[in-house]
Amino acid sequence: MDGLSSEHFTINGGRRLHGELALSGAKNSALKLMAASLLADELSVIRRVPRITDVFTMVEMLRALGAEVAFERGELRINPGAPLNDCAPYELVRTMRASIIVMGPMVARNGHARIALPGGCNIGPRRIDFHLRGLEQLGAHVAIDHGFIDVSSDGLHGAVVPLDYPSVGATENLLMAATAAAGETVIENAAREPEIVDLARFLTAMGATIEGAGTSSIHVEGGRSLHGAEHEVIADRIEAGTYLIAAAACAGDVTVHGLDAVHLELFLTKLRAMGVGIDEGDRSIRARRDRGLRPVDISTLPHPGFPTDLQAQVMVLLSLAAGASIVTENVFENRFVVVDELNRLGAGITTSGHHAVVAGPRRLAGTVVEAPDLRGGAALVIAGLAAEGATEVRAIHHIDRGYEQLEEKLSALGASIVRAADAAPRPPSADRVSGEVR
Ligand code: UD1
Repeated sequence: MDGLSSEHFTINGGRRLHGELALSGAKNSALKLMAASLLADELSVIRRVPRITDVFTMVEMLRALGAEVAFERGELRINPGAPLNDCAPYELVRTMRASIIVMGPMVARNGHARIALPGGCNIGPRRIDFHLRGLEQLGAHVAIDHGFIDVSSDGLHGAVVPLDYPSVGATENLLMAATAAAGETVIENAAREPEIVDLARFLTAMGATIEGAGTSSIHVEGGRSLHGAEHEVIADRIEAGTYLIAAAACAGDVTVHGLDAVHLELFLTKLRAMGVGIDEGDRSIRARRDRGLRPVDISTLPHPGFPTDLQAQVMVLLSLAAGASIVTENVFENRFVVVDELNRLGAGITTSGHHAVVAGPRRLAGTVVEAPDLRGGAALVIAGLAAEGATEVRAIHHIDRGYEQLEEKLSALGASIVRAADAAPRPPSADRVSGEVR
């Protein structure tokens, strides 16, 4: 993967970003809604689905499981029919680890799921023990052999499922499985991300009975079969945060439309503390900066804490602030993989364990860098926009996994950013072989 990417961005930095943009649907919601559509045997229609490679991978996964899928102009039409194939192939799971989210719906529909083990990735080990333990508590039998997870059940039953940690993926997998489990399921210490609320709304439209989504205790009255439904995906809060940071990094003035600001509350509080002007409108957020930035300390936490998916991007902004900031990553291990590349652009970031000290203010200067993963890639683009001179960001297939029309949207705001094919394939770099897959 890395080193073999065929495209890069060339960015001429130092331009002020100015204007308005419509946000895309949330990647992390769309992928789960697509999986949820497998719970019915009839057509579901999902709108405002971003055209990003993770969504294309999930389309392939749904097809591999036997569903008919059409995707046009952001509208997905999914007809799973019956019965589902029960094997999620390795090639797709390794391309996108999030595809293990089909496990809950497959067990619910078929009583059986065989899913390739996802393997490692370059932001630390990403375990799925909570998913599996939770399914066992709902009455499933789990076995792992020959690189596959086999989950089977003669009929799921409701249970109280306490999670050790509010894992987003485990909450979603268990929420979907619980719709098929006879009786009441309570997921305790559930994740509270807005994408979980979106999933619960879709499941409810499909006929499920769910209470408490968005709180740490979700109740599901399961056992009834679900029908197809129509749904529009919520706006992508991580995309919103990325553009708001880009605006602030370039002393710009940008308004993003389509998002409820409450989805980004702590993030916006931190930007304000740095000296960025933030106005919250009716489903819109404006960020503008006309003065120097102050350092702030940031700790990533599950929602409503500061999102780990904006940690890399905000480090660029902190690099421009007058003083040192401390960033603590609490959600993933090894999530500072982009730091070396940011330092090559002139940042002064040192890491120790899950802490990073971001020295500032730094003058960023363009050079050639390589995206190590999705959010790290977005951070490099922001750094390139704020840097003097030209920056080439390579391995942008990572960025294409999660950002729809990134260069078009940035160009409309006044950025100079162009996508081009690499001159020649480069050999893979051993230290960057990646299965990063969110
Ligand atoms: C989702 C998002 C990702 C985001 C993350 C945290 C998608 C497709 N991805 O990932 O963008 O960064 O939430 O907001 O929605 N863990 C375990 N055992 C488990 C499950 C998780 O130990 O069974 C650990 C993980 O290793 C990680 C932490 O819990 O350290 C958080 O993981 P989780 O909330 O599950 O994230 P994802 O659902 O994988």
